[in-house]
Amino acid sequence: MEGLTFGPLSTLSSLVEELNPYRVAFLTNTTVERLWLEKASNWIEDPIKIVIPDGEEYKNVETVMAIWRRLQDEGFTRKSLLIGLGGGVLTDIAGFVASTYMRGTLLGLVPTTLLAQVDAAIGGKTGVNFNGKNMVGTFYLPNFVLIAHETLSTLPEEEVRNGLGEVAKYAILDRKIYALTKDFEGISETLIRECALFKAEVVEKDPEEKGMRRILNLGHTAGHAIEKLSSYGIKHGLAVAMGLAVASKIGEELYGFDSGKVEELLQGMGLPTRHPFGAGDIIREMRLDKKAWYGRIVFVVPVEIGEVVVEEVDEGVIRRALEATEDDSWSGGG
Ligand SMILES: NC(=O)c1ccc[n+]([C@@H]2O[C@H](COP(=O)([O-])OP(=O)(O)OC[C@H]3O[C@@H](n4cnc5c(N)ncnc54)[C@H](O)[C@@H]3O)[C@@H](O)[C@H]2O)c1
Repeated sequence: MEGLTFGPLSTLSSLVEELNPYRVAFLTNTTVERLWLEKASNWIEDPIKIVIPDGEEYKNVETVMAIWRRLQDEGFTRKSLLIGLGGGVLTDIAGFVASTYMRGTLLGLVPTTLLAQVDAAIGGKTGVNFNGKNMVGTFYLPNFVLIAHETLSTLPEEEVRNGLGEVAKYAILDRKIYALTKDFEGISETLIRECALFKAEVVEKDPEEKGMRRILNLGHTAGHAIEKLSSYGIKHGLAVAMGLAVASKIGEELYGFDSGKVEELLQGMGLPTRHPFGAGDIIREMRLDKKAWYGRIVFVVPVEIGEVVVEEVDEGVIRRALEATEDDSWSGGG
């Protein structure tokens, strides 16, 4: 994909130089500021530095307004560049601000979590929470995304695992990624690159999520419901892993997919393969999802590794898959 760069943080200076912006503003949060802002910005004299509090609860319109205000005060223009440095919360906010301030400014993203490097920072979806997750947002492609592997060196183990749920998803969608994850010994630069490129390629074919991009929802139909039922106590990546296990059981019943492969994959990555909720509760929650189509439940169903279909699935099949993957002794996963 155009705009996707893999390299050290020091690559930033040449990426910015190419855009020749009027001003440069870094947007980051308190955690990432402490760890990486100096290294990311020491090549440039006097950039604007905007630091927001850390947490999903700050991904809202109030934060966005504070950033707009600050940009205005600093004389930031349409020809200026906003660089979002941080995890998915930060890159979503940065994208939203850049797409709305003066009807769109230059935007660069430097994702610093595994989840943001393989997923959130790629594809141009931006947004903030507003009476629900990501209820307000835009599609806005950044001028560049720099994936700097070094930034993951400070990422807590829990956040690495959170990103692995998406990596496991890509492994089912793509044979090459599956081969890279088979005897999993930890996340590598190559694996991140392949996942990021895979998403970029899918998005390029369907930028506004009208068709093909829906395959990226693999594991998310049940995953989102599980996340919600746990009141977000089960982290996204783990819920997606559980959702992958459910989808693979559906694939097994409908297409003879070998769900053992997914179980092995998830276990190899230290991810859970069982969820703690009753089938009825999950089905009810899935019908309420914003992606459910007039209450009908659409699943991304694996047919084999590297091949999926997107279709409405009969409730009986879903119920059996949910029951086969339920484990009421689940206590935190992994
Ligand atoms: N736009 C999209 O297509 C898309 C896709 C998936 C997820 N998302 C969004 O992404 C968000 C989740 O992203 P996330 O999982 O990255 O969470 P996050 O941004 O909250 O980051 C997780 C934690 O890690 C910290 N952190 C970030 N980089 C670090 C580093 N290098 N070292 C140490 N700590 C670091 C953060 O400060 C935070 O505390 C959600 O809001 C979700 O809606 C968006």
